[in-house]
Amino acid sequence: MEISDEQRADLIERALQARQSAYAPYSAYAVGAALLTSSGRVFTGANVENAAYPVSICAERVAVFKAVTEAERRFSAIAIATDNGGSPCGSCRQVLSEFGLETQVLMVDKNGTVVRRMSVGELLPAAFRPSDLA
Ligand code: THU
Repeated sequence: MEISDEQRADLIERALQARQSAYAPYSAYAVGAALLTSSGRVFTGANVENAAYPVSICAERVAVFKAVTEAERRFSAIAIATDNGGSPCGSCRQVLSEFGLETQVLMVDKNGTVVRRMSVGELLPAAFRPSDLA
């Protein structure tokens, strides 16, 4: 579902705000995410690193897991704020793909400028999906 200009601006603002909560002492690469559900709710996330590096978690997955554990499974868009408008990692693409390929992904830089905009399906072609298990 296409989102309005106001929803987009709000989502970007919330991703930038969420980025302030990142705990990234090892990479110094702070990431914030704001996920808009089909029902209009927004869930935010930030990356949380750990001294045992591999157990760190990305901002996008925090946002998705917060939403899903609050009974939301349908998403319209996610804004991801980084220093340079970086792209979501493969694990986050996979997690997003579980809940739909149409979700719009807005990659924004530290100023809130949209550097790239793609759907989950475009970011993860030929995704392994729930239907593959049927
Ligand atoms: N990171 C995210 O939060 N999202 C991504 O999609 C890319 C990477 C985090 C993980 C780690 O804390 C830091 O950015 C550097 O990789």
